[in-house]
Amino acid sequence: MVVGTIKTLIIGADGMLGSDLCKVFPDAVKLTHKDIDITDRKQVLQSIRKINPSLVINAAAYTDVDGCEDKQELAFKVNGYGPGYIAEACNEIDAKLVHFSTDYVFNGSKNEYIESDTPDPINIYGHSKLLGEQKIAENLDDYRIIRISWLFGTHGKNFVETMLRLSGEMAQVRVVNDQFGKPTYTVDLANKIMEVAELEAGIYHVTNEGICSWYEFASAIIGNTVPCTSEEFPRKARRPKYSVLVNTKTKPMRHWEEALKDYLKERNA
Ligand SMILES: NC(=O)c1ccc[n+]([C@@H]2O[C@H](COP(=O)([O-])OP(=O)(O)OC[C@H]3O[C@@H](n4cnc5c(N)ncnc54)[C@H](OP(=O)(O)O)[C@@H]3O)[C@@H](O)[C@H]2O)c1
Repeated sequence: MVVGTIKTLIIGADGMLGSDLCKVFPDAVKLTHKDIDITDRKQVLQSIRKINPSLVINAAAYTDVDGCEDKQELAFKVNGYGPGYIAEACNEIDAKLVHFSTDYVFNGSKNEYIESDTPDPINIYGHSKLLGEQKIAENLDDYRIIRISWLFGTHGKNFVETMLRLSGEMAQVRVVNDQFGKPTYTVDLANKIMEVAELEAGIYHVTNEGICSWYEFASAIIGNTVPCTSEEFPRKARRPKYSVLVNTKTKPMRHWEEALKDYLKERNA
């Protein structure tokens, strides 16, 4: 399958990942939240039927992890049932679906997670994203669910930008040093989608290589950071301590430190 030869639909086209997907798939039909509400089953079915794509890439989600604790109903509608409606539409028109899930479907008590490990979320965001995975599998065979983690990209709010802002605002920036994961650049991920789409249906873990704590990640971005524990920096939603996704199915991507260099170059260009 070659980009450009198949009709592709991108949902969530103006999000952080969606924006980079649009660059990789310039000829795709692009829908933003203004064009489609994925919680509206009728609208999803009608809209996808009308566009009639062969490949649907869904990057729409409710991604505010702490916000999900307060807006649980919305979280389950957008992250759980919405992807199920998209899968139902794909099944009807024989389209393939690529959808994104998260390291937060795991509880973080193990050091590393492969694709077949059993999810056990510890916050509402994770529960809602897991429901999305389940609803897709119930409605469609031809899906690729790509679990990703700790995204940074130039088209959205992300940890790198938060660190750069805080670094200018305060003498020392406290960052947790007991949660570990794999930072991932949206550009690298977007460029990987066709490779995964051509593999067999199922769940994939796709991240940049390299494991670090949030503090170690921050230290690569700014000079004035100090480590702290999760207990010293409480958040509304619990976070898994060790949500490291291991990719056993595709060629590894480059190290996140290399990707970060390109990100910083791009944002400063
Ligand atoms: N960011 C991360 O670190 C991270 C980590 C792991 C997994 N992921 C997953 O990766 C994917 C992309 O994340 P991202 O960070 O690029 O997200 P994002 O920047 O928050 O973009 C999400 C997009 O979804 C749209 N949206 C929200 N509710 C919608 C609805 N009901 N109908 C249609 N569109 C809706 C948003 O539009 P509005 O803003 O206009 O509402 C926004 O454009 C998501 O599936 C996310 O769960 C992200």
